[in-house]
Amino acid sequence: MPEPVDFVVVANRLPVDLVTDPDGGQRWQASPGGLVSAVAPALAGRRAAWVGWPGVPDAEPEPFTDDTVGDDVTLTAVALTADEIAAHYEGAANATLWPLYHDLVATPVYDRDWWETHRAVNRRFADAAATVAAEGATVWVQDYQLQLVPRMLREQRPDLRIGFFLHIPFPPVELFRQLPWRREVVDGLLGADLVGFHTPGGAANFRWLAERLCGAEVDDAPIALRSATGEVHLDGRTTHVGAFPISIDSAAFARRGADPATAERAHALRRELGDPTTLLLGVDRLDYTKGIEVRLDALGELFDAGRLDPADTVFVQVATPSRERVDAYRRTRDRVERTVGRINGDHAGIGRPAIHYVHRSLPPDELAALYLAADVALVTPLRDGMNLVAKEYVATRTDDSGDLVLSEFTGAAEELTAARLVNPHDLDGVAAAIADAVAGLGSEGSRRRMAELSAQVAEHDVAAWAEAFLAALGAPPA
Ligand code: ADP
Ligand code: F6P
Repeated sequence: MPEPVDFVVVANRLPVDLVTDPDGGQRWQASPGGLVSAVAPALAGRRAAWVGWPGVPDAEPEPFTDDTVGDDVTLTAVALTADEIAAHYEGAANATLWPLYHDLVATPVYDRDWWETHRAVNRRFADAAATVAAEGATVWVQDYQLQLVPRMLREQRPDLRIGFFLHIPFPPVELFRQLPWRREVVDGLLGADLVGFHTPGGAANFRWLAERLCGAEVDDAPIALRSATGEVHLDGRTTHVGAFPISIDSAAFARRGADPATAERAHALRRELGDPTTLLLGVDRLDYTKGIEVRLDALGELFDAGRLDPADTVFVQVATPSRERVDAYRRTRDRVERTVGRINGDHAGIGRPAIHYVHRSLPPDELAALYLAADVALVTPLRDGMNLVAKEYVATRTDDSGDLVLSEFTGAAEELTAARLVNPHDLDGVAAAIADAVAGLGSEGSRRRMAELSAQVAEHDVAAWAEAFLAALGAPPA
């Protein structure tokens, strides 16, 4: 058993998943999603532990290290059985909380057995964290899958400094009140010293619920981005609540974007795509919240109406497989693939698809080349806590070219106000924004907006996010 450490990250997943190759060999591979991309750089310079699930049933490796987060971070696995994955991860986390917190884009399922398992699994994460945390350590719990952990950890380790960050939106109070276990969740989070959200609105909703559901005393101080936090007092303890919009390692994306090898690959990609006049890009986990169908429908209409010419306009959609055993995700994949097929059927030339659809993850270099190659990024979620892809696109392009069509219903839209903001429920508006972005490419206006976006992302990077959160938590510096 490794020595207890002063800094512990607790997340549903480890930063790496255990994958089995067709020849039966096993290896670790970076796990999907924005959380790992954001939290991994925040660990630099710390001797730390990361407690999480290895991504497959029953895997329980001894504590180990991996290059993704470096040798100073010990990865401690929490093993889950296939039944626990079905009830906790696919069920309570991704068929109950995920749709509830994303504006009911899908209908949440409230299942008591799932929740019982969810509670037991949260306890196992809390126990694992308690084991690896040294006396007085800082423990940073991540995301909606582990909202019960702060209270469970506090009960057994009152010496710890506990922070919690929610990587997805916190819902409006009227929606949250549907949850049969609403009081347990709010109380679970109140075990933390600091609860962080992407937006002041989410933090204010949580504070209101703490008062109404748990009888806490709360202040009514305004909650501001990255600075002023609110206070919740319960049972002689104070929990601070604040807004800390997450970000990316902006300088690393800019470096990659400025690397001649990336530019070369970007040119090659455009050539492989038939040298279109305009290249549009979407990059997402294949999730129903991401609005992939919205952008496909808008593009289909633009092609139908002759407002964009499929002979010289190409759309590349890269979609990472995600949560494939959850029904709503299967249905989304079917719908997306049918729509891609229909639009290509209507508009592709022989050997020249209008839409290139890639259903897998791409390595970072290839992703950077795509960001550089693409004239317009289409980021159209129906609801998204932040959306790092929008920031990555802007940060990679260091010459102020390109354009970003961005849904109003993302956390990113609160910061990236110079993007072409769209309501993803308004198909005409999305189509018009795409057409305007294409028509305006290279104009003074689009350059000015891209420069503004780059400056925002360069200043507010992931290091600033982690620093602001950990400073508000009172954690010792790295
Ligand atoms: P979420 O956390 O919901 O998945 P974000 O946009 O915040 O959404 O973060 C997604 C992260 O996953 C980004 O860092 C992005 O680069 C990465 N990503 C998304 N799709 C792919 C893909 N197809 N290949 C490689 N990385 C991807
Ligand atoms: O931020 C949302 C989130 O669920 C993260 O917790 C996670 O890293 C990412 O999306 C990917 O999701 P999953 O772990 O379910 O594949």
